[in-house]
Formats: sequence, structure tokens, C-alpha cells
Amino acid sequence: MAATSLDITRITRPIARELALLERDLEDILKSDLGLVEGIGEHLLAIKGKRVRPILLFLSSHVGEPDSEAGVKAGVAIELIHTATLLHDDSIDKSDLRRGLPTVNKLWDEQVSVIMGDHLFCKAFALLHETGLDDVARVVVEGSERMTFGEMHQMDKRGDCNITEEEYLELIRNKTAALFACSCEAGALIGGVPAAARESLVAYGDRLGTAFQIVDDVLDFVGDAESMGKPVGNDVRDGRVTLPLIAALRAAPAEEVAGVRRFVCGGEYSKHGWDAMVEFVEAHGGVQYSLEVSRRLAGGAKTAVAGLPDSPAKTSLTALADYVVSRRK
Ligand code: IPE
Ligand code: IPE
Ligand code: MG
Ligand code: MG
Repeated sequence: MAATSLDITRITRPIARELALLERDLEDILKSDLGLVEGIGEHLLAIKGKRVRPILLFLSSHVGEPDSEAGVKAGVAIELIHTATLLHDDSIDKSDLRRGLPTVNKLWDEQVSVIMGDHLFCKAFALLHETGLDDVARVVVEGSERMTFGEMHQMDKRGDCNITEEEYLELIRNKTAALFACSCEAGALIGGVPAAARESLVAYGDRLGTAFQIVDDVLDFVGDAESMGKPVGNDVRDGRVTLPLIAALRAAPAEEVAGVRRFVCGGEYSKHGWDAMVEFVEAHGGVQYSLEVSRRLAGGAKTAVAGLPDSPAKTSLTALADYVVSRRK
């Protein structure tokens, strides 16, 4: 497997300046006179995430003529929105590990984590306003709305072992790909990229984000919690039926399916059943099938940008599609 950390450094070379400014501005914006907010801000900055969404925004802006100042503001806004969703997600999931550190809900409590998430959403929207670019603000707000709708869809489907692959894909396109696609669109708007190329970047973000979430859902079964810095097995524990399980349930014989359905969707979840669960999903091709779907989507993402004029940004976007499907964290 490729050394993903090295790959990402190469991928981000054309936007190294913006990424450095992003870190500086994130540090600034997370400062506060209130000890509680300051403490959580420091905790959130202690270990960096992958910064995939601002990377998409910056690379997309480099397809045209980037305006660094507006781009960095929008990139910070997108990363704050993403961070807010993680604060909310970990509180809802009662998850105790994120980026290798205890979660905010674990170190403080769920109330604090949820309200800090709200606070970060508001900071993000203020920053979008500051760019003075209405179209950029609009696409990011619409993307955020789709993302939260996807999360509601996920809540609605908790414990539903009958969810189809089509519905799962629709759900994750909203929950995860919408933020990827709007990052690309916002970047394209900031770079003044012509409409047709902008559409290609939106299609790229949509496919890449969908592939990204499928890989995340695979890693929730077969990933390594230590390298991912977050727990495995949370999806099944919380009744989230994702593609590896959907595919395995479809392929497995009826007698095995009944037991798994009771385990995942019938309120019979137990820790000792987890190993059998992973075995079931692997044995019936759920992992392999999901990785094939994610590779196909990543291929579709590359095709979407293939017609753009050659540039270092286009090369990086293409490489990022490979990174997303080979990642281990
Ligand atoms: C985690 O996103 C939430 C999902 C959409 C799967 P990332 O994997 O981008 O999280 P960080 O920011 O790198 O920690
Ligand atoms: C991403 O999905 C949720 C968000 C859009 C915040 P997950 O629930 O799979 O994210 P992780 O696995 O906790 O990072
Ligand atoms: Mg989660
Ligand atoms: Mg996950």
C-alpha cells in the first residue's frame, strides 16, 4: 500500500502557502477570552485532521486564478464546519476517541461539545460573510444544509437492515459528498473557473466524497483504530447499516442473515458478537464489493476532471482520488 502521508505532501505542494495560512487562521479563530472555549480550541488544534475539504477548495481555486485571501477564509470556514460536525457526531455516537485523542464529549461533556459545535458553525458563517462573495457563501451553506439532512436521513434509517444500496448511496452523498462538492465549487468560484469546468469540479467532489465515505465505512469494519485515531465498530453498534454490511446481507445464505439481522437491527448487539460480524462481512464479500464501488467512484472523479487543462492542481486532484481509496486513516 502507498505511503499515504508522503502522497498527501506531494498532492498539496501547489497549495502549500494556502494550507500554512489556513493553520495560522485556524489558530487565531480558535482563541478566546473564555477559558472553556480556549481550552477546547487548543484541544482541537493539538492533532490535525487530514484537511481534505480545504485541500479540495484550494486545489479547485488553482484550476483558475486563485484569490488567496478569500480562498483561505472560505477554506477555514469549511474546516470549521467539518470540525463542528465531528463535535456533534462524536456526542451523538458517544464516541471517546478522535484523531487519536479523547473526544471533547469525553474530556468535557456532551452538552459542551454540542454547543461548541454550534459556536464553530456560527464562526464559519461569519467568515463566509466576510469573504464578501455571496455565491461562495450560498454554495457552502447549501452544502451544509445537505450534509445535515444526510445526517437526519441516517438517524431515520438507524437499525434498518432493509436499507438498499441506492438509498445508502443517496444518504452518504448528502452526509459527506455534499461538503466535498461544495468545497470544490467554492474553490472554482474563488478562482473564477468557467462554468463548464466548475461543473466538472462539482462532479469530481461528489464522486470523491461518496468514495471517501464508503472507505470510511469499510474501515469501520476492518480498519485499525490506532492508525485511524478513532474507534472501529461504532457504525454497527449504533445501528448504522453501511455498504459492506448491505452487500454481505445480500450475498449471504438466509440462515446466516437472520442471526446478523438480530445482532445489528434487533437490539441484540453485544461486544463478543463483533468478531463474528467482521468475519460475516468479509466472508460474503462486503468489504471487497464496497472497495470496488469506491474505486469505481474515484475513477469517475478522475474522469470528471480529465478534460480540464493540464496544471499542477489537476495532477493533484487526480492523485487525491487515488489517495482517498488507498487510505488507511
Ligand atoms: C471524518 O472525516 C468524517 C467523515 C466524513 C468520514 P475526515 O476523515 O476527513 O476527518 P479528519 O478531519 O481527517 O479527522
Ligand atoms: C461522517 O460519518 C459524519 C459526518 C458527516 C460528520 P461517520 O459517522 O462515519 O464519521 P466518523 O467515522 O465518526 O468519523
Ligand atoms: Mg461517527
Ligand atoms: Mg465512520
